[in-house]
Order: sequence, then C-alpha cells, then structure tokens
Amino acid sequence: MKERSETNMNPRELRMDWWGARVLEDRSGREVMRDGGKIISSYLSTLTLRKREKKEDMADVRDSGEQRGDIWARELYDYYPFLGSLLGLHKKLMQNIQDLRSFISKWSMNRRLDFNANNITGYIDAYLLKQEQEATKAQTYFNEENLLASVLDLFSAGTETTSTTIQWGILLMMKYPEIQKKVQEEIKTHIKPGQLPTVEDRKKMPYTDAVIHEIQRFGNILPLNGSHSTPTDVYLRGYLIPKGIEVIPFLTSVLYDKTQWKTPYDFNPNHFLDENGKFVRPDAFMPFSVGRRACAGESLAKMELFLFFTGLLQAFTFYPPPGVSREDLSLKPGVGLTLVPTPYMTCAKPNY
Ligand code: HEM
Repeated sequence: MKERSETNMNPRELRMDWWGARVLEDRSGREVMRDGGKIISSYLSTLTLRKREKKEDMADVRDSGEQRGDIWARELYDYYPFLGSLLGLHKKLMQNIQDLRSFISKWSMNRRLDFNANNITGYIDAYLLKQEQEATKAQTYFNEENLLASVLDLFSAGTETTSTTIQWGILLMMKYPEIQKKVQEEIKTHIKPGQLPTVEDRKKMPYTDAVIHEIQRFGNILPLNGSHSTPTDVYLRGYLIPKGIEVIPFLTSVLYDKTQWKTPYDFNPNHFLDENGKFVRPDAFMPFSVGRRACAGESLAKMELFLFFTGLLQAFTFYPPPGVSREDLSLKPGVGLTLVPTPYMTCAKPNY
C-alpha cells in the first residue's frame, strides 16, 4: 500500500467525523472514543469497496469484531485453546467472527452485482477481476472463501490497532499537557486556521511526528506481534529452532530495549528527534513488526494516525474531567493481547 495524499479519504470529512463523535461534545468528560473503531472501520470500507459506509452503519462491524480486544482474544484462543473453553470465550468469538463474515459477504455480493471490469475502484473489485481472469485455471487462490478472509483480515487488523493508538494518544496528551501544547504550537505554525491537516504536512512537523511515533512505541499495543513459524531449520546465535516451531516475536523487547532508547519506560518524544530537532526513526522502532509478514497496512495506519491525531489536537485541547488530576491518570494498560489503555474519561475544549 503506497502512502498517497490524493485519496478519497478526504481529511475534511475525516476530522468532521471525529467532531461528530458524540463523546467530544460533552465537556463534562466521558469515556473517550466510543465511536473511534466505527469511524476507522468506515474508512476501511472506502478502501475495500470504494464506497464510504456511514459510521452509524458500521455498528455491526464494531459490535461483532472489535469489542475491546475480542478479535485478539481469538489469537489468544489460537495460542492456548484450553483458555477458550475455560473462559467460554470461543462461543462469543466464533459468533462475532461469523457476524462479521456475514456483513462482509453481503457487501461483496452487492459489489459483484455492480462489477465492471473497466472500472476497478477498490480492493473487492480488484479481487473480483483477478477471480474472473483465473476462472479457467484448475487451481486458484482467488475464491470466495479467500475474498472473505482477506477483507476480514483488513478490518480486524486495521480497526482496533489504529483506534487503540489514538486512545493512547489522547490519554498521553492529558498526562503531558506541555507536550500537547508543543504539538498545538507546531500545528498553528504549519497549518493555517481553518485549514485541515494533510498527509504532506507531516514532513514539515517533526515534533508532531515524533510524538505520534512515541505514542506507538510507548503504547506497544501488540506486544506479542502475530504468531509465526519457522519454514526451515533456523540457527540463531548457536541455537537451533527446528522447522515448524511456533515463534511468538516479543515486540516489547525492542520497543522497550534499554540499549536502544534513552528512557524506555518514560514517554519521551525526544527518542525520535536529533539534537537539531529533526525527526529520526531509530531501527528499534518496530510496532508494525519487520520482515516479509510485517504489517500490510503500515502506510495507511501512519497516514490515519497523523490525520486523526493532528486534526483532533488542532480542534481540541484534551484535559482530565473535574476532580481528576494528571497524576491520577494511569498509564497501565488493561489486560489483553492488544494493550488498550485502562478506560478513562476526557474533556475536550474547542480551540477556537
Ligand atoms: C497502529 C496501527 C497498526 C499497528 C500497530 C499494526 C501492527 C501490526 C503487526 C505487529 C502485525 C503483525 C506482523 C507480523 O506478524 O510480523 C500486523 C499485521 C497485519 N496488519 Fe497491521 N497494524 C496496524 C494497522 C493496520 C491497518 C490500518 C491495516 C489495514 C487496513 C493493517 C493490516 C494488517 C494485515 C493485513 C496484517 C497481516 C499481514 C500478514 O500476515 O502478512 N494493519 N499489523
């Protein structure tokens, strides 16, 4: 996926959506980002269908697939199946996955009805074209089952990750108001009042870029990465890892490596800035993993994170609800394979 500024994910709509999130209208403080996952899903629908589903219509996706780590609990169930039956997890998970599959299946069927090989406008169209081209082949991967599985993958991998990162971002901005202020100063310097951030702005805004990277490093949302296995015998530092062994790469070991980061346990955007304030990306920054199976949506995620985060901080200043001090704000993650912040409340004051 290429990072592109021209896209029908219009930044204006993007920020309007955040504004539309009811949570931001309430100044007394509410749990943040109730609608976050739905909004991200709604943008993913643009990518897959080239048709923007309204965020209200995304309820099925969120409700079935995104309930606080449920999709990742499926992975937990994959690693340790006995946990599923102990917790009764599998029934709900399987039902969630089934619901999401039906939702996507309905979409792809509608898309098939409108299909025009001369007007390919999204992932599903491109897939259907490939299916048509390979129709006479004895063996093809482009079948209905794989279409559902790959679209399901895009939604499950792309929704909760991005919205969880934004949740960490808002919490950290409340905790460190001086950092929030510096980001807002940079926004004011580079984006004219009334103008919305674009992907191009990122290059001119090293401090904001550094803050977003540090949110990802510190948030460490996928500590156990995805599960991998060795295709052949592998020798690593004198150890043999036999073919077919399941390997769970521990991303925390690099994101919090004290030989790579000055203050690994502190939220410190300077990790991504050189002495002249220029943005630098240390090699140990691996929230998207590395190698052949690294995150397929990295460029999209980075674009979304910049537009959402910058748009939010341009429009609002986030602060804790009355009676809660910044010291009270906990940076301890909740339990799960995706490290989500402990649920919190926020107030958002419009900046204009
Ligand atoms: C902050 C946002 C995100 C983070 C931190 C993240 C992180 C990751 C990580 C750690 C993996 C596992 C890589 C591995 O197994 O080595 C992964 C896989 C994947 N991600 Fe993301 N991701 C994000 C957003 C997205 C988005 C927006 C999409 C697409 C819409 C996406 C699509 C995928 C897919 C399809 C895979 C599976 C790749 C494969 O197995 O070949 N991700 N992601």
